[in-house]
This record gives sequence, C-alpha cells and structure tokens, in this order.
Amino acid sequence: MTLLLDRPSQQTLLELKRILIVDDEEPIRRLLGYMLQTHGYETVLASDARDARVKLEEQPFALMLCDVNMPGESGMDLVRNILSQYPSTAVIMVTGLDSSVLANAALDIGAFGYIVKPFESNEVLIDVANALRRRRLEMENRLQRENLEDIVRTRTMALQQALEWLERSEKELRLSREETIQRLAIAAEYRDGATAQHIHRMSHYCELLARKYGLSAERCELIRTASPMHDIGKIGTPDHVLLKPGKFTPEEFDVISQHAEIGYRILDGSDAEILKVAALIAWTHHERWDGNGYPRKLKGETIPIEGRIAAIADAFDALTTQRVYKPAFTLDHAVELMSKHRGEHFDPELLDIFFASMDDIKRIHDRYADPSSPGIVPES
Ligand SMILES: [Fe+2]
Repeated sequence: MTLLLDRPSQQTLLELKRILIVDDEEPIRRLLGYMLQTHGYETVLASDARDARVKLEEQPFALMLCDVNMPGESGMDLVRNILSQYPSTAVIMVTGLDSSVLANAALDIGAFGYIVKPFESNEVLIDVANALRRRRLEMENRLQRENLEDIVRTRTMALQQALEWLERSEKELRLSREETIQRLAIAAEYRDGATAQHIHRMSHYCELLARKYGLSAERCELIRTASPMHDIGKIGTPDHVLLKPGKFTPEEFDVISQHAEIGYRILDGSDAEILKVAALIAWTHHERWDGNGYPRKLKGETIPIEGRIAAIADAFDALTTQRVYKPAFTLDHAVELMSKHRGEHFDPELLDIFFASMDDIKRIHDRYADPSSPGIVPES
C-alpha cells in the first residue's frame, strides 16, 4: 500500500509555489514577475511558447500564466499541447482581448482562469491564489484516488492469493481423500488378487455410465470416488471362502454374500456424502434387476441407480479381467455374456447405454490395463 506521505515528489509538487510567466511583452512579464515575487511566489519568465517548453522541461511549476497572443505558437496552442504532459501545472490565460468566446475556449482546454489586460495587482493575486487552491484540491483528490486504487489492488491481490491457496488446499484434500479411499479399497481387494487397476476401471466405468445416463456432474463425481469401496465388506470374508478357486457351496455363497451387508455397515452412518454413496453402492451392487440378487432381493427400480450402475461396471470388469479361476474374456465376449442377462441381472436401459459407449469403455479398459506386477498405480 502506498500512502500519501510515501510520495515525496508528489508532496513536493503540492507545496510548490513556482510560477512560469509566458508573455512576449517584456514589461508585462516583468510586472507580473514582480507582483508575484513580492507576495512570496518564485517566478520564471519565458518570452514565447518555445522558451516556455524549455523551462517546463527543466523544472516543475505550480502555475503557468500564459499570454494568448504571441508570435509563433499561440498561448492557446501551447496550453492545448502541453497540459496533459504536465497535469500538476495549473494554467491561467492572460490576454488583451476581453472575449467570452476566448474565455470559454480557454476554460475548455483546461485553463483554470482568464485574466484580461490591463489587470489590477489584486485581481491577479486573487486569480493566482484561487487557481493554486483548486490545483491543490485536484491533486489531493487524485492522490487519494490513486491511494484507494492501490489499496483495492493490494487487497484484490491478497484475496486472489488466498483463493488460490484455498483452491490448492481443497484440491490436495480431495486428492488425498480419493487416494485414501482407493488404498483402503485396494487393501480389501488385495486378498483375492484384484489389482489397483480394477479399482480405477470400475470407478471410471461407473462414472461413464452415470454420466451417459444423465446424472448430474456432481453425482457422477461422487459415484466415481465412492465406487472403489463397493467390496470393502470382503475384509469380513474368511480366506477359505474368499480365495476358493472353484464354485461356492450354498453355505459358502451365503458367507461371501455377506460382504455387501458388511460393507454397508462399515460405511453407513457418516454425514459425508461420499461415504453415504459408498454405503449405498456396497449394499446394492449385487442386487439383480429381476429381484434374485442379494442381500435384500430388491427388484427393478427399487434398487438405487448407484447400485444398478455398479452392478454393470463390476460384472463387466470381472469378465474382462483375468482371475485365478478364469482367463480374461474379450470385450465382445463380455458384451455377449452380459446381454443374455439383460432385464434379468442388469437394468436393461442402463446396459444398453453402457454398451452404446463402447469406445469410451475401451479407452478406460486400455488406460487402466493391469500391470505385470500388482500394486497401486496412481492416476495420471
Ligand atoms: Fe461385490
């Protein structure tokens, strides 16, 4: 912030009492000089416009008393041309012609006053004092305005920096929350050999399907970040069931089925929207459209949309990924297999939307292909 007192040159200009007298008639120049000097002003004399320009270049002036009619460049032209160059110099025009047209023209180009020859000493002194008072007020106003602009500029910059910092912090917090969720999900999935890339593929398939279905951008983002936790309940599934390579017995199926309920209980009860969505997905991603899923045998649209989306994304990724008990099916084969369960296992409308987005599906499938060694691969 720049204060008024921090501007010595401006302050000096404010206190200035130096006056430039421009007149081609030497007696007038001398008379004006004498009158003003005897009243405490410092004066400099110039015989024409050219001389005035030189004097103006040499030092600053508080005021210029300028004759209108001079040989060469006229006083009016001089003032018109140099006023913007010397905004701190006030101008009073001096002329032998008492004309309202000339007076108005002088005021129009920025002169503060107009003195007609012959003049009285008091008249000149009053006009000079008034012009200097007005100049001082205008300069103070200008300085205050600049000062205010400085304050606004400084505070705006501080506000922008604070906002940028907040944005950075918010982004870091979001990324850290997302990574924590992914790593927790990996921890749960790691036991049965699923990779970090499965988490990425699954969450991006979910986001893709939610978006194509027409959910809001905010909901799609929540589904993308919450869906990695769909199988978190598997931490409650014993190894001999979870890692069994062959088919489950009915009793083992009951045990593995509990992961949906366990996941829900782990995630339920939070005020955080992401955990609410995660709990919903964990609870409902094994429900089936025909009501033969688990854990609650919900049917059709009574299954939350998040669960219906996750069911398709999870099944598609399981089919197209190599597991200990099966090879990875091609995308076309997965489509063929899942199509047979359209309207049975899967929401038919959602399945159609998903398969209509095959280019995007392939991109996700390739981008997050399983690496040769399992581990957490950060998203790029
Ligand atoms: Fe599951």
